[in-house]
Amino acid sequence: MKMRQLIKYLNREYEKRTPKSRLMFQRASRVMVRGGSHSLRLWKPYPFFPASAHGAAVTDIDGRRYLDYWQGHYANILGHNPEAIRQEVEPYVAAGSLHTGFESSVQVKLAEKILGTLHQPGLKIRFTTSGTLASTYAVMLAMGYTGRQEVLKIGGGWHGASPYLLKGVKFHPGHGFNQVDSAGLPPEFARHVFITRFNDSDQLEKMFKKHGTKLAAFILEPFIGVGGFLFCSSEYLKLARKLADEYGVVLIFDEIISGFRFCPSGLQTLYGVKPDISLFGKLIGGGQAVAAVAGKTKIMDGCQTAGASGLQVNFEGGTFSAHEEYIRTGLAMIKYILGHENKIYSSIGRLAASLRQGIEQAFEAEGLKVVCTGAGHESVQQSSFFMVNFPKKDISYFTPEDVWDPARSDVFLREEALKLALLINGVHVVHGGGCLSTAHTDNDIKKTIEAYGQAARIFKKFLG
Ligand SMILES: Cc1ncc(COP(=O)(O)O)c(C=O)c1O
Repeated sequence: MKMRQLIKYLNREYEKRTPKSRLMFQRASRVMVRGGSHSLRLWKPYPFFPASAHGAAVTDIDGRRYLDYWQGHYANILGHNPEAIRQEVEPYVAAGSLHTGFESSVQVKLAEKILGTLHQPGLKIRFTTSGTLASTYAVMLAMGYTGRQEVLKIGGGWHGASPYLLKGVKFHPGHGFNQVDSAGLPPEFARHVFITRFNDSDQLEKMFKKHGTKLAAFILEPFIGVGGFLFCSSEYLKLARKLADEYGVVLIFDEIISGFRFCPSGLQTLYGVKPDISLFGKLIGGGQAVAAVAGKTKIMDGCQTAGASGLQVNFEGGTFSAHEEYIRTGLAMIKYILGHENKIYSSIGRLAASLRQGIEQAFEAEGLKVVCTGAGHESVQQSSFFMVNFPKKDISYFTPEDVWDPARSDVFLREEALKLALLINGVHVVHGGGCLSTAHTDNDIKKTIEAYGQAARIFKKFLG
């Protein structure tokens, strides 16, 4: 009842401020499924529609400005439309960047740059256009290489809408992260995917003991994104490497969020644990559609040499794969990062730390407890992420279950109420938080903490 009143109030306040977006959403809903193309962007009652986006902020078609912490699904480490990237790419676009449909030489430079940061000899890379495709191809490569058909993944792990990996993504009360999350999949897909708990070494050993000889791949995010902004412990990652070696399983690190986000390389470099295949996306495109599969040559060769089945892996096609404009943008981003690493990671890490602390204090001042996940640990000094959780019990946050089980955290309050309470106070977040970019300033952080304080006061008024 109290929650319903809170949501009613928030909806009313949001609608008052965003009439043009409401009309646009009505129009969109007449021609588009659910009114758009990406569910997470389609929050209730309707999303605002951006008119422009620069640096830390987005301005909507009603002229309202929001400090943005989703930042292009975490791709925009330099903020929206960064000058440094535009300067590099605009002359090329102005000269006519028609897609030629040939292999561009620029992609070689990007391949060299990315592989150069991984410090692992004998790797090869292939580009594609989305993280979803990268994870799909990685699983196919692992299956082709091992001749096995089963996959182990983390409960709460999101690797895009790859058919192989659409299990154990969402938390289902009573079942946890162990259900298939999409219609339209052949039933055998689900039977071939096993789920294990993030950071649970005992369970990992048991899973390998039971299924190890049949597993093609174990795929995980060293820093789990949607699962709750939690880092793997070093022991867990080392154990994953050891077990994968022991059972001949291809170890895949999904670094689509974490790649170049914590250091000018994959997170694997900070941990000192190397996978067999790494996936990159988001940031490496500099704002354009670039993703990559980088792996040991003997596995990547599956793209050109027939494996045990007599077939090669069809990691092929892609009209826009390695499109020169995308690759140039990605290259500009990686070059910028490599040239400014000292400044980037320490500054966004420092701001995020003060944001996490300020948010917890702002809620505490109203007698409400929140816990921000996203802070780094012994292997990762600087983290630019924060997720605001409302614990229902006195819990520590180690696994996606802690973040997504409604018995442990108030998921509705984080996902729906907090989102709206912040939007009416000029801040845009996803899953209760997001990430920093180099465009965010100390003043932005101050304003954001104030907005969370406003949200805390609204919650206290309605929920007591
Ligand atoms: C860890 C991770 N892997 C894969 C993906 C899928 O990438 P894309 O959205 O480019 O398909 C995402 C997207 O959010 C992600 O967070």
